[in-house]
Amino acid sequence: MSGNITFTIVKPDAVANNHTEAIFGMIEKAGFEILSRKDTTLTKEQAESFYDIHKGQPFFSGLVEFMTSGPIVVAALKKKNAVEDFRMTIGKTDPLEAAEGTIRKIYGEKVSRNAIHGSDSDENAQREIRFFFTPEEVEF
Ligand code: RTP
Ligand code: MG
Repeated sequence: MSGNITFTIVKPDAVANNHTEAIFGMIEKAGFEILSRKDTTLTKEQAESFYDIHKGQPFFSGLVEFMTSGPIVVAALKKKNAVEDFRMTIGKTDPLEAAEGTIRKIYGEKVSRNAIHGSDSDENAQREIRFFFTPEEVEF
């Protein structure tokens, strides 16, 4: 059975372009409850660790550079079928392929600057929430 929690990052491009509040508005309109949210930045080590599954990919160093390039906003989200529904809400990885009305279609520029992250499994959602939030801040 799928879980009811997922995790998101409003990425440096979207924060720098002042799209954070509009994006959280879309997230809430899509039915997600924002359990906890905070502004932060990633060090190179943190970005490498967060995306360690992509280590060795040709885009890895660019991804780490981008994710450390400025402030981000991280949040834990709650909704029935959260992971899958949120991936639908944000759209495909490449904004040029994302469906109309999705967050990446509206705010993403290209695959390497795609505005937002969404967890890809219940297991990764829990891992990613624990990467940024203590059990006191977000419990599940
Ligand atoms: P994310 O983890 O950021 O939510 O993105 P995703 O699941 O849709 O995509 P994923 O495969 O996890 O890739 C992580 C990030 O790496 C960049 N990427 N570039 N072919 C490429 O140049 C390429 N593939 C992936 C994207 O910025 C993607 O969000
Ligand atoms: Mg991913």
